[in-house]
Amino acid sequence: MNLPDIRATDVEGKRVLVRADLNVPVKDGEIADDSRLRAALPTLRDILGRGGRLIVIAHLDRPGGTRDPAASLRPVAGALRDALDGPRVTFVEDCLGTDAEQAVDGLGAGECLVLENLRFHAGETGNARDFADALAGLADLYVNDAFSASHRAHASIIGLPARLPAAAGLLMQKEIGTLDRLLGAPQRPYVALLGGAKAKTKVPVVEQLLDKADRILLGGVMATTFLKARGIDVGRSRIAEDDVGRAEKLLRDAESARVDLLLPTDVVVASEAHGDAEAEVVGLDRIGDRMILDIGPDTIRRYADAIEDRGTVVWNGPMGAAELEPFRQGTHFLAAAIGEQTRSGGLVSVAGGGDTAAFLQKHQFLHLFTYTSMAGGAFLHWLSGEGLPGLEALAPH
Ligand code: 3PG
Repeated sequence: MNLPDIRATDVEGKRVLVRADLNVPVKDGEIADDSRLRAALPTLRDILGRGGRLIVIAHLDRPGGTRDPAASLRPVAGALRDALDGPRVTFVEDCLGTDAEQAVDGLGAGECLVLENLRFHAGETGNARDFADALAGLADLYVNDAFSASHRAHASIIGLPARLPAAAGLLMQKEIGTLDRLLGAPQRPYVALLGGAKAKTKVPVVEQLLDKADRILLGGVMATTFLKARGIDVGRSRIAEDDVGRAEKLLRDAESARVDLLLPTDVVVASEAHGDAEAEVVGLDRIGDRMILDIGPDTIRRYADAIEDRGTVVWNGPMGAAELEPFRQGTHFLAAAIGEQTRSGGLVSVAGGGDTAAFLQKHQFLHLFTYTSMAGGAFLHWLSGEGLPGLEALAPH
């Protein structure tokens, strides 16, 4: 996809509004994982280095249109100041209003202003006209560097490029370029591994992948939902209740499309999702009133066998409750196998989504993967082949 490149735009002395994704985990004012912040730096440095007057806008969490101190970008602005290490970085407590306007007026070339969480205003998620007008009034140019928020039709994603000359930032270009290169015409067999705790957004992805993938392997709530659709009694396992009917249809569609849709044949169950819970490996007929919390050893072996050396694997979502020690085997084993096959066997491995990236990072597999996207929901949207509103708004008309 050809997007206007910020590097081809003269920014000297101009007020440049950069929509970044700084949605990092913050607890008690501390940033638990600064991967997204670090990924945003190249664009910010490029603009500052070329004498732009940089205004950074972003969201944190989902405060629902009201001011919530726990979702303030203030600590993130502080971390950004440290990371940029040099340019003056100031922070304003509201993305709109007199303070923001005055701060922009006082912003010099090569200086940076970070504005408070866009989602403190309902106009952001609602793409309200007056909200987008007011934001656009702060700047001469707009840059979208938030691939991971570009599946949202929000004011800062689609409203601004309709009002200002617009370009794509470096992270945005890297994400799109890499995903296109690795997954546009993937090395085969092309295997999709989908897990995680949320199934709602992923069921439609399975539908789209029936046209593209050779094998689809399911874990997490995706697996329990599809097992239920196959008539298995999944006990107290978490499932996406509303999607069981759709899953039933997808099982039939996969057969006609000759796509292998692999489900667990054995599972790890327990009475509760707890680190001290008594875990047991059982066949699908012995789940009882317990919960499925991981895939079992036979399933791990079948899934690992389905991923071949010279092929491609795309992964979103852990295989079970991988944040808890007794239920991390499936995710851990597959991460190790994929990492090793990538390093030594020519497998192309692409991961996306916060929980998957965090697991790979924590257990030191991240560097073995060909590419890990910063995006979760947007990555899934992209995978399903659905257009991303933010990209459509940027593409030259
Ligand atoms: C993400 O965390 O995936 C992006 O920042 C988008 O956040 P959202 O799902 O709250 O829109």
